[in-house]
Amino acid sequence: MRAVQCTRWGGPEALALGEVTPPALQGGEIRVAVAAAGVNFADLLMIAGKYQENPPLPFSPGFEIAGTVEEVAPDVTAWRRGDRVMGMLPFGGYAEQAVLPAERAIAMPPSLGFAAAGGFPVAYGTAYGAFAWRARLRPGERVLVFGAAGGVGLASVAVARVLGGEVIAVASGRERLAVAEAHGAAHLIDSGREDVAAQVRALTGGRGVDVVLDPVGGPAFETALRCLASEGRLVVIGFASGQVGTLSAGVALGKNIDLIGCYWGAYRDADADRIRRAYDELGRWIEAGKIAPHVAARVPLAEAPRALALMSSRTLAGKIVLVA
Ligand SMILES: NC(=O)c1ccc[n+]([C@@H]2O[C@H](COP(=O)([O-])OP(=O)(O)OC[C@H]3O[C@@H](n4cnc5c(N)ncnc54)[C@H](OP(=O)(O)O)[C@@H]3O)[C@@H](O)[C@H]2O)c1
Repeated sequence: MRAVQCTRWGGPEALALGEVTPPALQGGEIRVAVAAAGVNFADLLMIAGKYQENPPLPFSPGFEIAGTVEEVAPDVTAWRRGDRVMGMLPFGGYAEQAVLPAERAIAMPPSLGFAAAGGFPVAYGTAYGAFAWRARLRPGERVLVFGAAGGVGLASVAVARVLGGEVIAVASGRERLAVAEAHGAAHLIDSGREDVAAQVRALTGGRGVDVVLDPVGGPAFETALRCLASEGRLVVIGFASGQVGTLSAGVALGKNIDLIGCYWGAYRDADADRIRRAYDELGRWIEAGKIAPHVAARVPLAEAPRALALMSSRTLAGKIVLVA
């Protein structure tokens, strides 16, 4: 099969399309003909050897896929050849085929196309885990989402809105913010032109927000602390700025705030049933028209380096997806 391979640690230029042996199918697994693979910021970290769990070289990056079941192990009864599925992987999605445990495959919601499904599991799963499980967002709460035009950020705007939050979206560029508005943001702050903390103060009558979702870190984390109301929760999901924020226990005490981490990948490996229930609920939201996963760009598999460069350019809003 054809696969995008990382043969040395580096940037997107370290990737090349090649012919590789398809992954072997073990008991309990299914083989999927990949129609679409989501592109994630963490792919950049993994090909640079800077992710928390790096596979040995050579490997194919790619944390999520959607496609059609091609083969099932003899002990698998839940899936049949031809089923439309999506799912998360530790790596290996940038390929024509992927093998995943049958219990971790998710039935594609009927109205979702392959491209949207390929970019769905990581962004929407993380957003759901962050707000429903970790922050326990309540209807009517005010939510500030940094990186709101990014893959996880845009999904977070949509999920927080469905859970009843009043969402303030922060991103650079009016056009990208317009996409966040279309996905449920009530208020928009252009971080390239506006003072985020001042705008949040104005929007909340000086009180601050109940929940912040931070996929950026660094300066965004510092601003997030200034934007939190008393008893506010700051959910940290990533460090796209390259800088990990720090919070002194004294500040947490003085401001009566909670710092909350959310790592969706750990749930993927630990609790398949809980993950399935989350995707079932997200699937119902899709079918009810409450969320509409957005594809910013479809890029051919062979042009994976261009897809990663496009993500780094911060010019689009939402997910970039590699298509077969
Ligand atoms: N915890 C988890 O389970 C989990 C799951 C998925 C992703 N993540 C993490 O969440 C973060 C975002 O991932 P993603 O796939 O959504 O990425 P993405 O689509 O590239 O979005 C990242 C956003 O961060 C903002 N940003 C600010 N400074 C940046 C910088 N120096 N370089 C790049 N972006 C910068 C950009 O928004 P502006 O251009 O508007 O500033 C960009 O839209 C990453 O750190 C990723 O590892 C964590």
